[in-house]
Amino acid sequence: MQQHSPADPGQQITVTFELPDGSEQRCRAAAGETLMDAALDNGVPGIVAQCGGGCTCCTCHCWVLSPWLEQLPAPHRDERDMLEYAWGACRRSRLACQVTLVEALDGIRVQVPAQQS
Ligand code: FES
Repeated sequence: MQQHSPADPGQQITVTFELPDGSEQRCRAAAGETLMDAALDNGVPGIVAQCGGGCTCCTCHCWVLSPWLEQLPAPHRDERDMLEYAWGACRRSRLACQVTLVEALDGIRVQVPAQQS
């Protein structure tokens, strides 16, 4: 687990979503936004985010790839609890609404599951 300084709101972070059909969707998001914000703002299919980021639905589940996975702070208890209900959950699983984009995550790649719980 890494500790990061607060996000610089002027910074742009590049995020690549790998979709279940093998295609990719690359977008830019402002530092301080979440992975969920990046997905919703760019119409990434498969990130439903039914609760709007409240950590109560797990329909923003995604798999974070290395080396960015290791850059993330550990999930808090609420996130861990919700991930138990996520389809295909594994050690790379995170809720996109709980991942804040910071400079160290520039270039982050995440996989979007074929279905959400
Ligand atoms: S949007 Fe509902 S848990 Fe992330």
